[in-house]
Amino acid sequence: MISAAVEPHVELFNPNTREPQVPDFATTVKAPGTQHRPGSQKRKVLFVTSEIADLVKTGGLGDVSSALPKAMRQLHDVRVLIPGYPQVLDSDSPIHIVGELPGHAALPACKIGRMDLTDGLVIYVLICPELYQREGTPYGANNGRDWPDNHIRFARLGLAAAEIAAGEGMVHWTPELVHAHDWPAGLAPAYMHWRGLSTPTLFTIHNLAYQGVYSRGSCPELAIPAHALQQEGMEFYGKLSYLKAGLAYSSHITTVSATYAQEITTPDFGCGLDGFLGSKAQQGLLSGIPNGIDESWDSATDKHLVHNFSINDWEGKARNAQQVRELFELEPSSGPLFAVVSRLVYQKGLDLTLGVAEYIVNQGGQIAIIGRGEPEEEQAMRDLALRHPGKIGVRIGFNETDARRMFAGSDFLLMPSRYEPCGLSQMYAQRFGSLPVARNTGGLADTIENGVTGFLFDESTVDSYREALSRAFYVHAKKDLLNAMRCLSMTQPFNWCQAVEPYARLYEELVQQAQYARY
Ligand code: ADP
Ligand code: GLC
Repeated sequence: MISAAVEPHVELFNPNTREPQVPDFATTVKAPGTQHRPGSQKRKVLFVTSEIADLVKTGGLGDVSSALPKAMRQLHDVRVLIPGYPQVLDSDSPIHIVGELPGHAALPACKIGRMDLTDGLVIYVLICPELYQREGTPYGANNGRDWPDNHIRFARLGLAAAEIAAGEGMVHWTPELVHAHDWPAGLAPAYMHWRGLSTPTLFTIHNLAYQGVYSRGSCPELAIPAHALQQEGMEFYGKLSYLKAGLAYSSHITTVSATYAQEITTPDFGCGLDGFLGSKAQQGLLSGIPNGIDESWDSATDKHLVHNFSINDWEGKARNAQQVRELFELEPSSGPLFAVVSRLVYQKGLDLTLGVAEYIVNQGGQIAIIGRGEPEEEQAMRDLALRHPGKIGVRIGFNETDARRMFAGSDFLLMPSRYEPCGLSQMYAQRFGSLPVARNTGGLADTIENGVTGFLFDESTVDSYREALSRAFYVHAKKDLLNAMRCLSMTQPFNWCQAVEPYARLYEELVQQAQYARY
C-alpha cells in the first residue's frame, strides 16, 4: 500500500590499528576508549539489505535483517533500506513517500517510501517498479533464474544508500553509519567512498560464496569509476565483484561467526578472496560476531505449534512428532525422526544426506524434508521420497509454520553443510529439542557441542557423516541420555544479547574514528 501523495516526513523517533600478528577473529574490535556505554548517544544507523523476514526472505539473511535491527534499537536508531518488491509493497503496512532520488547513468530515478512495522522498526523502501516489481524471489524468477539486470537492481540499492547517507533525496534522516549486508548491498560502501563521504561503513558477510560478479563493461552504466577496477578495489579476475566492493570500501568487515571469520582467510573457504581477507584480518579489520535467534523461538508459547511443550515434557514433543509424520505421510514409528529444513543448494551438502538416507532408513529412522532451491536438488529429493514411501517425505517449498513444527517434532536435524557462515536452523532446532547432526565447520562448530547438544563430523564424506549418525542412533536408544541432551540443547543461550553489545561497540568505534579523522 503506497500513499499516492508525497507526504511530509514525520520523525517518529527522536534519535536523541592496526596490527595483531595473530588475528583474533572473535569480535575483535580494538578501540581504546570507545566502548559503548549504556545511556550514551543513540547513533543513526542505516541497514542495507536485500531481504527482511517480516516481508520477504529466502534464508537466514532475512531472519538476521529483521531480528538484529530490532535488537539493536535498544541502543541505536537503526532503520532498514530494502528494495520495493511486490511482497513489500503489498504488505499490510502503509508506505508513505518521503523522498525522491534522481537517475544516474543506467540507474533509474526512484522514490523512497517509509513503512513503520507494528513493532516500531522503520523501513525505507526503494520504490522503482521497473527494477523491483516482479513476481519471484528478490534475486530471480520463480524458475530459479537470476534476473538479468541484477547488476542494475542492486547497484540502485547501493547508490540509494549512499545518497541517503549524503543527506540527499529529502529523506530528512541522515545516518551516522551505514551497515551493508552481503553482495546485494556491496556497492553502498563503494558509492559512498567514491563520493568522498566520511560516514563510516560496516560490511557484514553472511555468505562469501555469493559474490555478485559482473562484466567490467558495465562500469559506465553503473557509474563506477575506472580506478575501481584494481586489485585493491572491486576488480575480481577481470570482472566487477559487488561483494569485493563491500570488502574493499567499508571501514570494517564482520562475518557471522568466529570460526567462519578465520576459515575465509584460507584457500578452502576463501572463494578466491582469502588473500584479500587475510590482509584485512592482519589489519584488525575483520571480525566475527555470531548471530542469535529471536524470542519467538519458545516452544512453550510459539503460536505456530499446535502442541506447545516445555523442557522435560517429552509427551508434548512426541505429539509434535506425530503431527510431522502425518504431514509428511510417514508411517507411525517409535524410531528416530530426522528433519531437513534447508535451502536446497550445494552449500548444504544434501548429496551427503542422499548418501546416508539408506542407512537411516535401514536403522529404523525416518526423514522429513522441506525446502526449495536448485531444480536438480529438488528433483533428487523428490526421487528419494519416491524410493522410500512411508519412510521419507518431502515437501518442496517453504513455509515458516511447517518449518517450526518440524524443529519441534523431530529428534534430529540433518545439517551436513560444506560450509556454514553461521547457520540459524541448528539453533532453532536445539531450542526446540531437536539435536543437530552437522558438519564441524563455521557457525555449526561454534554453536553445537559435540556429544552434548548435537553431533559433529569433520569430513564432507558419507563415512564421516554416518559415524555421527551412528552416535545419534545410539543416543536415541538411551532415552535418559537423549532427554539429557535435549535439556541441554533447549537451554543454550542463543539470543541476540550476545551480538548486540559487540555490534554496538563496533558502531560507536567506527563513528568515533570517522569523527577523529575529520579533525
Ligand atoms: P541459510 O541462510 O544459509 O539458508 P540459515 O540456517 O542461516 O541458513 O537460515 C535458514 C533460515 O531460512 C531458517 O529460518 C529456515 O527456516 C529458512 N529457510 C530454510 N529453507 C528455506 C527456503 N527454501 N526458503 C526460505 N527460507 C528457508
Ligand atoms: C547466510 C549463511 C548462513 C547464515 C545466514 C545469516 O545465508 O548461509 O550460515 O546463518 O546467512 O547470517
